[in-house]
Amino acid sequence: MKFDFDKIIDRKNTDCFKWDYNKEIFGTENVIPLWVADMDFEVAPVIKEAIKKRAEHGIYGYTFYPESFFFALKNWLLKRFDWEIKTEWILPIPRLESALNIAVQTYTKPNEKILVQTPVYPPFISSVKNNNRKCVVSPLKSVGNRYEMDFEDLEKKLANNIKMMFLCSPQNPTGRVWTEKELRRLGDLCLKNNVILVSDEIHSDFVFRNSRHYPTASLSEELQNITVSMFAPTKTFNLAGLTTSALIIPNTDLREKFQKKLLNLGIKLGNIFGITAFTTAYNFGEEWLTELLVYLENNYRFICEYLAENIPQIIPTEADGTFLLWLDCRNLNLPQEKLVDFMIKGAKLGLMDGSLFGEGGEGFMRMNFGTPRKLIEKALSQLKEAIEKLR
Ligand SMILES: Cc1ncc(COP(=O)(O)O)c(C=O)c1O
Repeated sequence: MKFDFDKIIDRKNTDCFKWDYNKEIFGTENVIPLWVADMDFEVAPVIKEAIKKRAEHGIYGYTFYPESFFFALKNWLLKRFDWEIKTEWILPIPRLESALNIAVQTYTKPNEKILVQTPVYPPFISSVKNNNRKCVVSPLKSVGNRYEMDFEDLEKKLANNIKMMFLCSPQNPTGRVWTEKELRRLGDLCLKNNVILVSDEIHSDFVFRNSRHYPTASLSEELQNITVSMFAPTKTFNLAGLTTSALIIPNTDLREKFQKKLLNLGIKLGNIFGITAFTTAYNFGEEWLTELLVYLENNYRFICEYLAENIPQIIPTEADGTFLLWLDCRNLNLPQEKLVDFMIKGAKLGLMDGSLFGEGGEGFMRMNFGTPRKLIEKALSQLKEAIEKLR
C-alpha cells in the first residue's frame, strides 16, 4: 500500500467534533469515538499539498466556483458511474444537510407529505419535521440481516399524496448499495405518482468490491427529470470540515426554484480551500480512494468475523458499502436507554444511538469503521470485555 491508513493521528485539541465533543454528547471524554461520519485518516497527500499551495498565496478574498470545479465533478461522475451531466445542471452548496432543508422549503408547502425510508441519517427526518411538513415513513425491511426496500408499502404510501421523497443511496446506516433494479422500481413509483425524488448520494464512492453504485438520475431521462441529486467529495476524501458539495438538477424548473432559494438565503460564492480540495480530490484522488476502499472493506470483514467469533449476540448488518455499520444489539435484551448507557459506560464506546435514525432503530447502534484497524481492535476488545461482565 502506498498510503498508510494504519497511522494513528491524534485529532484531540483540534476542535474536532468527533474527538473533542464527547463530553457534550456522551457525558464523558472516556470513550473511543466511533460516531459522527468522518474518518480518522489523513487526506490524500495531493490534497494537502494543493491546500498548502493555495494558503501560501496569502489572500483569501471572495471566490467564485471556477470552471475547473464543475469539470472536476462532471469528469468524476463520467469516469466512476458512466453518467454524463451538463455543467449548468450543477449547483454548488456548502453542506448537504442544508440542501435537504432547502429542498423541503423549495419544493413543498407546510403540511405537505414527504416520504423517508428508515432507519436513516437523522436530518432526513428532522428537516421534514422542523419545517412543519408531514413525515411519512416507509420502514426498510430486514431480510436475514440485510435491508431491502418494502415495495408493497411504498406502492401504497407513494400513491397517497406524497409530494417528495428522500432517498439515501447508498444507505446510511444500513450500508445497502441499491441495485439498478431496485432503483428503477422505486423510480417508476415516483414517476407514476408525480413525486420529486431527492437522491442523497454522498456515500456513492464507498462501494465494496462486488457492488456498483448507480446514480438514480442516470437511469433514464424520465428519472433525470424528477430527481434532485446530491454529491460531495467530503465523505469520500475526508474533507467534511471544508464544507463544499454540489447538487445536480437537470430539470430547469426544479433547478431554477432551488437556485432562487439559494440566492434568497445569500448562499453564493465558495470557500477557497473547499473548492481547492473538491477539485483536487476529484481530479487526482482516485489512487488514494482505491486503497482506502480496500482498507475499509477489510475493516468491515474484520469486524464481522470478530463479532461472529467473540460477540455473537451482536449481529452486524450485511453491507455493500459505506464506512458505517448498523449493529443489531437486540439479543442483549436491553431497553434502548440501557443499551446506550451500556455502550458508553460499560464498553466505553461512543457509538450512535440507533433510535436517532427513526422507526426500526431501537435495539441498534451505528458504528463508524473509518478508522485505523488498531482502534477498531481496541474498541471490539472493550466491547467483548463489557459483554462478558453483563452475564
Ligand atoms: C446521507 C448523508 N447526507 C448528508 C450528510 C452530511 O453532509 P454535509 O456534511 O455536506 O452536510 C451525511 C453525513 O453523515 C450523510 O450521511
